[in-house]
Amino acid sequence: MAQRTTLKVNGGTKAVEVEAGTPLLYALHDEIGLNAPHFGCGLGQCGACTVHIDGKPVRSCITPTSAAAGKEITTLAGLGTAGKPHPVQKAYVDEQVPQCGYCVSGWIMTAAAFLKETKNPSDEQIREALAGLKCRCGTHLAIIRAIKRAAKDMAQGSVA
Ligand code: FES
Ligand code: FES
Repeated sequence: MAQRTTLKVNGGTKAVEVEAGTPLLYALHDEIGLNAPHFGCGLGQCGACTVHIDGKPVRSCITPTSAAAGKEITTLAGLGTAGKPHPVQKAYVDEQVPQCGYCVSGWIMTAAAFLKETKNPSDEQIREALAGLKCRCGTHLAIIRAIKRAAKDMAQGSVA
């Protein structure tokens, strides 16, 4: 039976009517109308649906909505704005990473959480942190470049 659940999303509060086991991805996408995260595999294996819950990256396609109630949920729209992008968002533009763009939200959310915890990461650490994420357009090398650029910018304090 659907039940009313209050979610804290991107600094605001939204009420949704979903079954307790409904994946958070569906609540965010279908009930709240956020166009990212994206549905990729629905099995926790591609990362397209990644959001932050209390600052940690989670795959929203396999996270029950009930498990996110009362916690701080951040999606790509809450990470930065066009005027004040997150360093990873800025680096994505600078390195011209996206092709179709379908995977972008998941990679950026994963990388942003990683760079918050790991300053000046090595290439190996970056690859390890992003293992399991998929990009059907094959932009992986550009993604690595962007994350390294973001890490450098963050270390230099040249972006937020
Ligand atoms: S859609 Fe969630 S991991 Fe693929
Ligand atoms: S840019 Fe197309 S799937 Fe990654």
